[in-house]
Amino acid sequence: MCGIVGYVGTKSAQEVVVDGLRRLEYRGYDSAGVALVADGAIASAKKAGKLANLENELAALPLPASGTGIGHTRWATHGAPNDINAHPHVSRSGRVALVHNGIIENFAALRTELEADGLTMTSETDTEVVAQLLGREVDGGADIAEALRTVCRRLEGAFTIVAVDAQAPGRVVAARRNSPLVVGLGEGENFLGSDVAAFISHTREAVELGQDQMVEITADDWQVTDFDGNPATTKRYHVDWDLSAAQKDGFDWFMRKEIHEQPRALADTLLGRYAEDGSLTLDEIRIAVSELRSIQRIVIIGCGTAHYAGMVAKYAIEHWTRIPCEVELASEFRYRDPIVGPQTLVVAISQSGETADTLMAIRYAQEQGSKVLAICNTNGSTIPRESNAVIYTHAGPEIGVASTKGFLTQVLACYLLGLYLAQVKNTKFGDEIAAVMSELESMPDKVQQVLDAQQQVLGLAAEFSDNPSVLFLGRHAGYPVALEGALKLKELAYIHAEGFAAGELKHGPIAVIDQDLPVFVVVPPRGRDMLHDKTVSNIQEIRARGARTIVLAEADDQTVAPYADVLIGLPKVSTLLQPLVATVPLQIFACELATVKGHDVDQPRNLAKSVTVE
Ligand code: M6R
Repeated sequence: MCGIVGYVGTKSAQEVVVDGLRRLEYRGYDSAGVALVADGAIASAKKAGKLANLENELAALPLPASGTGIGHTRWATHGAPNDINAHPHVSRSGRVALVHNGIIENFAALRTELEADGLTMTSETDTEVVAQLLGREVDGGADIAEALRTVCRRLEGAFTIVAVDAQAPGRVVAARRNSPLVVGLGEGENFLGSDVAAFISHTREAVELGQDQMVEITADDWQVTDFDGNPATTKRYHVDWDLSAAQKDGFDWFMRKEIHEQPRALADTLLGRYAEDGSLTLDEIRIAVSELRSIQRIVIIGCGTAHYAGMVAKYAIEHWTRIPCEVELASEFRYRDPIVGPQTLVVAISQSGETADTLMAIRYAQEQGSKVLAICNTNGSTIPRESNAVIYTHAGPEIGVASTKGFLTQVLACYLLGLYLAQVKNTKFGDEIAAVMSELESMPDKVQQVLDAQQQVLGLAAEFSDNPSVLFLGRHAGYPVALEGALKLKELAYIHAEGFAAGELKHGPIAVIDQDLPVFVVVPPRGRDMLHDKTVSNIQEIRARGARTIVLAEADDQTVAPYADVLIGLPKVSTLLQPLVATVPLQIFACELATVKGHDVDQPRNLAKSVTVE
């Protein structure tokens, strides 16, 4: 939520900052703004709505030339998304400007204090309170860095704050708690960003900031301290993707491009997973094998699509390891006093590595003595940094707000974890593990086959563009696929969509079925006859009530063809791995339906890519 950029160097700060905001706009698009230090004053512009509104404003009224600037693209929490509440916020004296991501939980008390001091707030935001506090410190004689430390010590909640002082040209200061911030290191210039996309066109050298750390950048230097001013340890890293990965490459949407990148993302996530003796290796797992052997229970946590990836994984992990595995919404986890301890492995799934609910849940789990293993796509992000171990998915940057390649690679990483645990705990023979690995290695090609046959799904989207509601059904590992299909449609097409376990149909949902309701059904492969046949019976029950059935089944499944109004053929795969191919047509359908309806697929209304507030 919210994208933040900071820059000091010899280039036009306005251009660098706006360029960075363009790449971060997927994090929030309620308003955008920029502030520069020029001629001993703050020059700023901000506009409600998408970044394009700000760009139009800047084209009409350019800010003065400057090499020091900050910028923000907002996902509104406190206060409506209008010009006044847009960031940057400037202190009363006009000396300090700042941008903020997060929620200041004690802002009401701080606001009362400032009002008692004679300050009148002009916006409804929690952020303005911080700007006024900072301004008060600086006006009282404090250096901007010292002032930010003092203010941060008083703040409760989650924040990334980036600030400039009109009387300190060439310096940008920033601080973070429970909210992301990375430093980009250039030659004679330095950058700040909510993530590396902000500065990837300038540098691929980055520094992770830890919890409760503060950084000051100048053109030639960067210094990191804690909130008391003590030097802090940081981790420098090289970003393994470049600008081209963050561009649309001729596709109309990032989402469509990311759907097409899935074969490559799966192949990259599978790379380097074998040791010399042919056994499976997960280098990033820093938990001792003896500890892994003692695990009695696995709890997978995540939000949204990441949660559904966990639901898919549960079937495979329990089957291969015989370790009981539960899947829970990270947003619910710590509030129900869960029973976890040293013999529970908590697996946190997060594409961004910054989801606040998941972050809080892993901290809770660690306090209870559990080891946490993160499955994450974003190097340098908070969740893997705070976890005991990590498996990185190598999907490359995911910019479309709706997760696609993130999901498939999360499922794949969970499979790798399941197989690794089976190897460690000897619940599967080596050749059995090798057989599954060999099938996993065929998955990039199978996903490509689904992509090659997408024309049929694209046509369906146009046909269903007026439907107010769609139902998705699946059994076993197909059930979370149904949930994911429904989530994609809600997010992108803004229509009512629900996913159900097909076996639940007669326990209630069948009442909503009539001739106007399209029902997508994911049919398990024929290898597991009972599951397959029961799902085919469900389709007959739906058809008997007049609904249109869109059936995803093995391409040559003749047993299901008579009951399918539309049969979307899937490649042959085993039941546990079927989600990797069955999800793809549902992604394509949602993307296309939203396109047909004229929606902004990459930036759906009310959403943001990473949810960094609870
Ligand atoms: O970055 P994360 O994987 O932690 O994000 C979790 C969810 O917010 C995310 O999957 C969300 O549900 C997507 N918009 C789904 O398309």
